[in-house]
Amino acid sequence: MANERFFVSVDIGSSKIVILLAEEVEGRLKVFGHGIGPSAGVKKGLIVDVKKASQAIKAVVEKAYSSCNTRFHYVSVNISDPHLSVINRDGQVLISDGIITEKDVDLALKSAKAVITSPNKQVIDTVPNRFTIDKDPVTRQGTDVDKPIGLEAKTLEANTHIVIVSKQAVSAVQKSIAQSDLGSSSPVLNSMAASEPYLSQDEKDNGVCLVDIGAGVTNISVFTNGGITYSEVFKMGGDYITEEIAYAFDIPLTEAERLKIQYGYAQTKLLKGDKLIQFQPIGQCEKRYLSYHSLIEVIEQTYLELFTLIKQALKIEKLDRSLKSGFILTGGATKIQGCDALMLSTFRIRSKLGQVDIDKIQGSEKIISDPIYACALGLLLYEPDESYLEELQSDNRSGLIGKIKGGLFKF
Ligand SMILES: Nc1ncnc2c1ncn2[C@@H]1O[C@H](COP(=O)(O)OP(=O)(O)OP(=O)(O)O)[C@@H](O)[C@H]1O
Ligand SMILES: [Mg+2]
Repeated sequence: MANERFFVSVDIGSSKIVILLAEEVEGRLKVFGHGIGPSAGVKKGLIVDVKKASQAIKAVVEKAYSSCNTRFHYVSVNISDPHLSVINRDGQVLISDGIITEKDVDLALKSAKAVITSPNKQVIDTVPNRFTIDKDPVTRQGTDVDKPIGLEAKTLEANTHIVIVSKQAVSAVQKSIAQSDLGSSSPVLNSMAASEPYLSQDEKDNGVCLVDIGAGVTNISVFTNGGITYSEVFKMGGDYITEEIAYAFDIPLTEAERLKIQYGYAQTKLLKGDKLIQFQPIGQCEKRYLSYHSLIEVIEQTYLELFTLIKQALKIEKLDRSLKSGFILTGGATKIQGCDALMLSTFRIRSKLGQVDIDKIQGSEKIISDPIYACALGLLLYEPDESYLEELQSDNRSGLIGKIKGGLFKF
């Protein structure tokens, strides 16, 4: 590692914990260290046992340290709370002297942010999506601008995406990080982080849905008109597929997981004929045989159950017809063959497996091409976009790394 400044991410997943270290090389991030190990104390995305989780994190910290001989303290961490709620909210201010200042922008954002949450909830992120100047109170029409500072206007409205999670979930993440002798700021919503390495601005402009199917949960985030508009966490992931296989054939979970990984395919449609597969039933020594076709049928039905949940949620939000760029899939459970094809045939919208944009972040093939690293890679890149604070006339644009938190320094 050549740089003094570097960045560290910790993905606390239901099945594994990943730590990545990256530094800036020629305007993009390069992963130079990593650790991975089994998760503990995490159920369906939520930390339920802080002690176990922090012990698991500490073990991965040591692996990350050994991989690059670099100690670290400050990290970026994820949260994936099934009790998540997201709202899109406007805040408006009058511009007293006719020219919008940074203070006006700040006030408009504060007014949008001023949501009354229940005592057990907290706002972890407020993403400004759009600013509108001089909105007519009757027609609700105004001029949308990206960078309002310095513009002449009578009113300024900020349209924001507000992410609200349970206080208990945030506190469990923060305690687990603190008890692992690490420090972090507010955790980042899993799907917002996971979208960073994969989605282009064009896709966000056209409408796109990032789907991260992990072990315990599936996180989605929808982007339309350039910004985030919706996020959801479903309590269903790859472990549920394994459980359904175990239930259907009366086999232990470990055996079901083996069959899923070894033979798994997401669609029966493309199978050519059938064959017998050997398996170990519960409580019996002798091996038995099951039909490959029936295994794939169970897998397909279970993935379809999950896709139906996603479909219903998008329909309720009236977003099902707004995804011109379709679905981008990531997370370990999308490694099953034919996952993207099943998504395509369910939604009839283009669906593809996420491919890391190597102009943003680079690393070993193993990390860049494996979707289990999506969230950890995204946490390295994630930074609240504050380009709206730049004046329109200004050419003084900061590069990618200028966007990244200044707080992540060498320990
Ligand atoms: N080849 C494969 N085929 C099918 N499923 C797979 C394959 N490889 C891994 N999986 C599944 O991926 C899941 C793990 O994915 P991932 O590492 O993204 O989860 P996680 O981040 O630990 O969990 P979560 O995000 O839900 O908290 C497991 O359920 C595992 O069975
Ligand atoms: Mg995950």
